[in-house]
Amino acid sequence: MTLGKSSALKTWLKRIGMALGILFIVAQFFQPDRRSPESNAADHFYTVESPPAQLQEKMNGACMDCHSNDANYPWYSYITPLSFWIQDHINHGRKELNFSNWGQYSAKRQEHKLKEWVEEVEEDKMPLESYRIIHGEARLTEQEISEMLEWVKTRREEILVRMAEQAAPEPP
Ligand code: HEC
Repeated sequence: MTLGKSSALKTWLKRIGMALGILFIVAQFFQPDRRSPESNAADHFYTVESPPAQLQEKMNGACMDCHSNDANYPWYSYITPLSFWIQDHINHGRKELNFSNWGQYSAKRQEHKLKEWVEEVEEDKMPLESYRIIHGEARLTEQEISEMLEWVKTRREEILVRMAEQAAPEPP
């Protein structure tokens, strides 16, 4: 009797496994919308701010997949349900900060985003940890981080000075 029970269990496990397999295959036909929004090259952070090439390289490796319209999609980003989880990060990241549209941000918004940039990276929140685990080039060294943030802080100061100048009344 015990033999019969375990073989019935095996049959059921096989069926469940097969059903899950089929479900997984069917799920692959469902894919997120990966179309990039339109953007103007003149508005790109690199065009507007001309950051040093070294910083651009770091940003390409650590930030741009989620914070620009030029996301790279590795092979595993096409596997559902992972695909939806990755696209959600990209959509959410772009909504918060899109370097492709930097030139359209007001000075106030730019200044605020630069402030957030320093905070998020200092608090180890950006790049997202799940991204860092997979992308070696997103794991910045302490030296690279301090160089990056120094540039960002300087740029923020410049914007603050410009804003203060514009807010000041015209000299008589
Ligand atoms: C895997 C995707 C991903 C990567 C890579 C990534 N981010 Fe983000 N980022 C997000 C998401 C999603 C949010 C919004 C949710 C949150 O704050 O956690 C966000 C939020 C932010 C914010 C907050 C904006 C605001 O106004 O609150 C800043 C600043 C930021 N990221 C900067 C960076 C920088 C700089 C890098 C690279 C060093 C980077 N991120 C890399 C996904 C990413």
